[in-house]
Amino acid sequence: MSHTVLVTGGAGYIGSHACLELLRAGRDVVVIDNLSNASRVSLDRVRELAGCELVFHEADIRDRGALDGIFAAQRIDAVIHFAGLKAVGESVEQPLAYYDNNVAGTVTLLSAMRAAGVRDLVFSSSCTVYGDPAQVPVREDFPRSATNPYGRSKLIIEDMLFDLAASPLEEPWRVVLLRYFNPVGADASGRIGEDPAGIPNNLMPFVMQVAVGRRERVRVFGDDYPTPDGTGVRDYIHVTDLAVGHLAALDALAKTRGCVAVNLGTGRGYSVLDMIAAARRATGHPIPHEIVARRPGDIAATYADPAFAAEYLDWRAARDLDVMVRDHWRWQSANPTGYADASSDSRTVPR
Ligand code: NAD
Ligand code: UFG
Repeated sequence: MSHTVLVTGGAGYIGSHACLELLRAGRDVVVIDNLSNASRVSLDRVRELAGCELVFHEADIRDRGALDGIFAAQRIDAVIHFAGLKAVGESVEQPLAYYDNNVAGTVTLLSAMRAAGVRDLVFSSSCTVYGDPAQVPVREDFPRSATNPYGRSKLIIEDMLFDLAASPLEEPWRVVLLRYFNPVGADASGRIGEDPAGIPNNLMPFVMQVAVGRRERVRVFGDDYPTPDGTGVRDYIHVTDLAVGHLAALDALAKTRGCVAVNLGTGRGYSVLDMIAAARRATGHPIPHEIVARRPGDIAATYADPAFAAEYLDWRAARDLDVMVRDHWRWQSANPTGYADASSDSRTVPR
């Protein structure tokens, strides 16, 4: 069992929830994050919720010197690599920034890991690597493709990791690629959650900002898809289930030979209108919506086949749609402007 885990991007949405579950499971956690899309308050709250300390380095994964310093400062058993840029539209406008941050950043991280003799890795991939799947549910052996630089950065990193794990000259690497479906929700405490900068691209943060009164109505991108109600269908998964999936992946590294890809989803698809209805139930707010044109690049439907995750990781999503929306709302209603109004509290709680 890995004991000390280096978490890149640990101050972000999924990373902060993963750090909390790692601490709750008794692991030691070291975070590296450049705070380009996160607040250090998230880590203060992770410490508060876990009642113990984690180590935080404000640094960039492209900074080889910083990485070498971190690996030299303490023994690291495994790395969970969340750090990256993730906005599809921005990636079309600024492809080099995405290849530099995501691809070059991962090359630097892997090189530093190898120099330090650390070859156990869990990587944040995405269901975006399945492109527009020919059928659903989506299995891990389905063909992969990308339609934008963000998705291509994930494909390139996946291929890099398969190549690295297959090299005859390398010491054995053990890598689990986790392909997340659509994370939503927040820790049940409502103290940490998703805090998108600017206008949210993703559905659930937008719906919640309408519920809290920050935005007027949800724009539903198309109601003429070949789905039961015509709106897009996705596999929404509670972020805490996703975080727990990382613990399962760390445990599975012991039996992993090379590089293995695993879907993290629930296996159930919900439409945009299903999500708005669930949000109305959870919040008691009317949440007005209007149907507008399809968003370019969107697909009709995708959801995971979760069978391999159950078999390989002994992991299944446990939280249903109403829990996801209720927990997201608890976070959003208690923190209507995210972490913006909270001041960072640098107090530390001894372990
Ligand atoms: P996020 O933006 O909240 O977290 C990413 C974190 O990485 C941020 O805290 C950011 O400050 C940090 N970071 C970015 N570049 C860095 C760099 N060069 N050096 C150090 N830190 C850096 O995003 P998230 O939703 O938590 O996503 C985490 C990972 O999961 C990403 O790799 C993302 O592509 C992947 N993913 C996310 C989703 C999703 O819908 N949220 C879906 C599939 C995959
Ligand atoms: N949608 C709306 N209105 C909005 C936002 C979204 O109708 O304001 C619809 C979309 O058309 C889609 C569904 O809600 O049908 C979900 O959209 P999201 O933007 O929340 O999520 P996507 O599935 O489009 O994509 C996101 C990330 C991808 C990632 C994928 C899976 O943007 O990069 O989740 O993790 F690959």
